[in-house]
Order: sequence, then structure tokens, then C-alpha cells
Amino acid sequence: MKRIRIKSPIKWAGGKGQLLEQFEPFLPKKFDLYIEPFVGGGALFFHILPSNAILIDMNLDVVNFYNVVKNNLEELINDLRKHKNERNYYYMMRSLNPESLDPIQRASRFLYLNKTAYNGLWRVNKKGKFNVPFGRYKNPKICDEDNLRNVSLALKDISVIWGDFSIALDHAKSNTFVYFDPPYDPISKTSNFTSYSGTFGVEDQIRLSECFKALDKKGCLLMLSNSNTPLIRKLYVDYEIHVIKARRMINSKVTGRGEVEEIIVRNFS
Ligand SMILES: C[S@@+](CC[C@H](N)C(=O)[O-])C[C@H]1O[C@@H](n2cnc3c(N)ncnc32)[C@H](O)[C@@H]1O
Repeated sequence: MKRIRIKSPIKWAGGKGQLLEQFEPFLPKKFDLYIEPFVGGGALFFHILPSNAILIDMNLDVVNFYNVVKNNLEELINDLRKHKNERNYYYMMRSLNPESLDPIQRASRFLYLNKTAYNGLWRVNKKGKFNVPFGRYKNPKICDEDNLRNVSLALKDISVIWGDFSIALDHAKSNTFVYFDPPYDPISKTSNFTSYSGTFGVEDQIRLSECFKALDKKGCLLMLSNSNTPLIRKLYVDYEIHVIKARRMINSKVTGRGEVEEIIVRNFS
């Protein structure tokens, strides 16, 4: 294990930063490989800094961003210097098609929008276009150079892969620690306002529980976060379940923060 302290370089809906202390007693003491199949902001990865890891996400902007931080950090920092925290500039950057940009410009746009968009949300419409309004922050730190340098070092020997969580099955072996933090099963019809690229419905939750069971058979150490709903309790009825409390946005307004119950499912004690 490396010893530097790093914070996640991006704000991410459902980020686990505030829960890390509560997670501490649930983490395994030893493992050979770490896999995080819904990495997002990677709060747990940056907390434990495993030297052997595979990170997976379905969001190509996230995966491209980590790979650019890992491989092209100086070019990224240079590009980040051009950004302005101004309304018109923000909407111009927002209107760009990420697929028309080279990987460095794409990562730069991603981080810029992430730091200046309202509430740090990453939300796309049905056509996949980023649609969050300008955040009007006074002085957002778009380029935290020291932290990005540490992130780049932490990712040095790490694979960051674009794709579905089930890729974990191809890489995991016995004594691999897999931490799943999927889009949560909604606690109410209106609670799922932070949409990721695509929705993660009941069928995906079932598919995920099947993947969990297959990895269990392989002898992996498994930990999963989700909401405390009847569906999730039913899917993981054969495993150890702990209830924890988290402060979360429960609707799209900043005032809609409240304490909600989440669960941690594990296949080990
Ligand atoms: C709750 S967030 C993870 C938050 C993260 N643990 C953190 O601390 O920031 C869920 C992530 O799953 C990704 N995702 C959604 N569907 C996916 C799928 N089928 N396979 C892999 N990743 C997926 C989203 O892009 C998002 O980054």
C-alpha cells in the first residue's frame, strides 16, 4: 500500500467521501487485487490506495479523465489553465460535443464542467448531452495541481476500463476485494434525480446481484453499498447486511438534504 493522502479529483453524485470513516471497520485487512466496478469519484479507492487495482465505469468521460490524468498530466494541466469561470464561457464549453475533442481536451472540459456546474452534478439528457446549469461559484478550484499530481501517481500502475460492471468477472480471482457502489435502487419515485448516463433499473440490480454471487463463488471478498429497500434486502438475503446513515440530497433542491439509511452488504465478516 502507498502512503500518500489524496482526495477524489471530482465531485460525484453518490460519492462516498463522507462515509469513509463508517466504512473503515468493514474493510478487509488483506487482499491481492482491488476492483471497483462503479468507480465514479473513487472515494474509497483514493482512501485505501491499493497498489494493484482495476477501476471500471460506464461513463466514458470519467474513464477518459482518469486515463489522461494518469498518462498526460502536464498537457492536461496546461489545457486547464485556459478555462474561465464565466457564464458565457461555461455555456460555450457545455455545448461542445465531447466526442469531437481529443482525449486531453475532453478530460479538461470534463473537469472544468465538474467544478463549475451547479452543485457539481454530472447529468445528461436523453440524447447524452450534459445539461446542468452554470453554478455561479465565486472561486472554484478548477485545477488543484498538487492533488492531480498525487492522483496521477496513484493511478500509475492501475487499469481504468470503460464498460459494464460485469467486466469484473473477467479479472477477479480468489482474494480479490471488489467494492460495488452502483446507482442506488430509488427509495421513492422522485428520489432518483441524479441520472447517470443511462438508467440502472430493477433488471440491472438483479444482474448485479447475480454477478455478486458469481464472484462469491470465485472466493472474492465482496462489499456493496445500496439503499435500504425491500428489493436490495431480498437480492442479498444470504449475506451480511449492515445499516448505516448518510446525509444525502433527497431531491434536486439544495435544501433537500436529509439523513437516509443505506446498507453495506458483505460476503465476509
Ligand atoms: C454511485 S456512483 C459511484 C460513486 C463512487 N463510489 C464515488 O465515491 O464517487 C455510480 C457509478 O456507476 C456508473 N455506472 C452506471 N451504470 C454502470 C454499469 N452498468 N457498469 C459500470 N458502471 C456503471 C456511473 O457512471 C457512476 O459513476
